[in-house]
Amino acid sequence: MQTIEFANGDRMPALGLGTWKSEPGEVGAAVTEALRIGYRHFDCATIYGNEAEIGDAFQRALDEGVVQRDDLWVTSKLWCTAHRADAVVPAIRESIERLRVEYLDLYLVHWPVAVKEGVMGPSDPSEFYSLDEVPLSETWDGMEQAAELGLARHIGVSYYSAKKLGGLLERRFPPEMDQVELHPYLQQSELFAHAKEHGVAGTAYSPLGSSDRPEGLREADEPVLLEDPALAAIAERVGATPAQVLIAWALQRGTAVIPKSVNPERLAQNFAAAEITLPEGAMADLAAMDRRRRYVTGAFWAARGGPYPVEELWDEPA
Ligand code: A2P
Repeated sequence: MQTIEFANGDRMPALGLGTWKSEPGEVGAAVTEALRIGYRHFDCATIYGNEAEIGDAFQRALDEGVVQRDDLWVTSKLWCTAHRADAVVPAIRESIERLRVEYLDLYLVHWPVAVKEGVMGPSDPSEFYSLDEVPLSETWDGMEQAAELGLARHIGVSYYSAKKLGGLLERRFPPEMDQVELHPYLQQSELFAHAKEHGVAGTAYSPLGSSDRPEGLREADEPVLLEDPALAAIAERVGATPAQVLIAWALQRGTAVIPKSVNPERLAQNFAAAEITLPEGAMADLAAMDRRRRYVTGAFWAARGGPYPVEELWDEPA
């Protein structure tokens, strides 16, 4: 298994299991099966609403000796309602308790967006804090405390542009990871190269195009990555499935990748993609598929007149 190496020598298995959209009632079985197959990296988040069931699956596997804690890589993410510096440590403690792991290997700021405490789905500008009211640097104070207390071995961010990342690079503990949407339709090569130059690794989320996103996060006419004819042709040429090509592409580019599945067959198929080496020609054909197509547009943050218009979220023209 390829790994992502951090400055202190810790290594994260580059292929992990994504758990966004894995429902309570199915996620525990998926994690148990994934552990059996050999997955050791699990990507979780408070907002996914399924950490307790994942924690139970970890506990069973630890009790049964299927895995030792040191062999697991557990990532979770701070939700937007806990961006005040003094809210971060309590929030990570809650994730740790749900996941039953004592510490997290990696803790990420989930979005560069601050929402007022207790607000579930903000729909009005008054339900947000602007970045002037709760700056990302304040949230990072809390993240550094979490690292200092040993609650998180590594800290990072998600959905951060190069500009937002830049604001944290001079900190005592700079971010070590930026988890962003990455797949052949949205390759973000400049962001990824910039991050790498500053010692920040990348994790590719929605690597398969996340076609199981809830209705509100989908556009009616969006292209379906897994059904792309060019991808199908590459897959046929290399003797792999389209999903395996997408996973192998991400790994070969040097990012971590966290495909989600709750299906035993697809879990195994995805894990086996780590063994695939794509020839240069296939990598070039995949590079040519870029269409700067974001599936998770962040438009849902842009409540009318609110402080997070889409172009400021990504720091690029809408
Ligand atoms: P399922 O969980 O039923 O396997 P992403 O990782 O980009 O969020 O994509 C997740 C979506 O892709 C889910 O709908 C998941 O369905 C599906 N999926 C996962 N692995 C595969 C695969 N190997 N082939 C086809 N679809 C897959």
